[in-house]
Amino acid sequence: MKPLRKIIFPAAGMGTRFLPATKASPKEMLTIVDKPLIQYGVEEALAAGMGQIIMITGRGKRAIEDHFDISAELEANLKKAGKSALYKEVSRVARMAEVIYLRQKEALGLGHAVLCADHWVGDEPFGVSLADELIISEKPAMQQLREVHEQTGCSVIGLIQVQASEVSKYGIVDYHAEESGLLRLTDMVEKPSVDEAPSRMAITGRYIFTPRLMGLLKEVVPGKGGEIQLTDAIAALAREEPVYGVLLEGQRFDAGNPEGFLLANSVLGLQHPEYGESLRLALKEHL
Ligand code: G1P
Repeated sequence: MKPLRKIIFPAAGMGTRFLPATKASPKEMLTIVDKPLIQYGVEEALAAGMGQIIMITGRGKRAIEDHFDISAELEANLKKAGKSALYKEVSRVARMAEVIYLRQKEALGLGHAVLCADHWVGDEPFGVSLADELIISEKPAMQQLREVHEQTGCSVIGLIQVQASEVSKYGIVDYHAEESGLLRLTDMVEKPSVDEAPSRMAITGRYIFTPRLMGLLKEVVPGKGGEIQLTDAIAALAREEPVYGVLLEGQRFDAGNPEGFLLANSVLGLQHPEYGESLRLALKEHL
């Protein structure tokens, strides 16, 4: 088994749900408390030992590249002004990861976005992370997946339990628990109705795949919404080789919609070591 080093961040989506905020800036750059959403995902991947990052971007996404790039002018100005904490943070972010950028030129679906990185992945296992699912946990979500991948050598998908009313927003899995306690996924359906949903276990945006996934992505036909669905390729993979699910530990926010985004900012703002207490007091005054 080759070591797991690579991770794909699909980041080409238009961010329609956040318009007009996302008209001129990528939704991945929206701020949760004190840093952009995408930085949380990248830091989580790095903490799980996945240091080779590929962003699948599109038009209007250049701010992501600038964020992870060195800005010599800004660094020099901060240094000169004696703002050493800010200088350190800005230069840390610019140097934290090796990032490659690829453009998804047409919006053909999440599966297609992942397939854009086919050549870069080669014959190695790889992660996929959807940054608008924000997961804050003691053990990084990607590390929770990595441990099962290292134990089994197989693909691993992060799961959460959802209400019946929520199943139509997610890929929903069918599974059985093996004697070892691992959840083996037997099938999955993209955004089913309540009646079609095989369980209440939803695919959240964290995945580790064996390289075989790319071959299957080339074969899947457009599915839900006329798009190349990642979920359909994973279902095909699960018919060929074991695919495991991990019920993720931690606080999870669907920051890809305005309500979840506000909730993430509120909860994490109130928990913030520097701003939390004063925010709590200010809120009491305002409400
Ligand atoms: C994607 C996946 C879906 C998964 C979801 C998690 O859907 O296709 O299976 O449950 O992410 O956020 P999207 O939210 O991109 O429509």
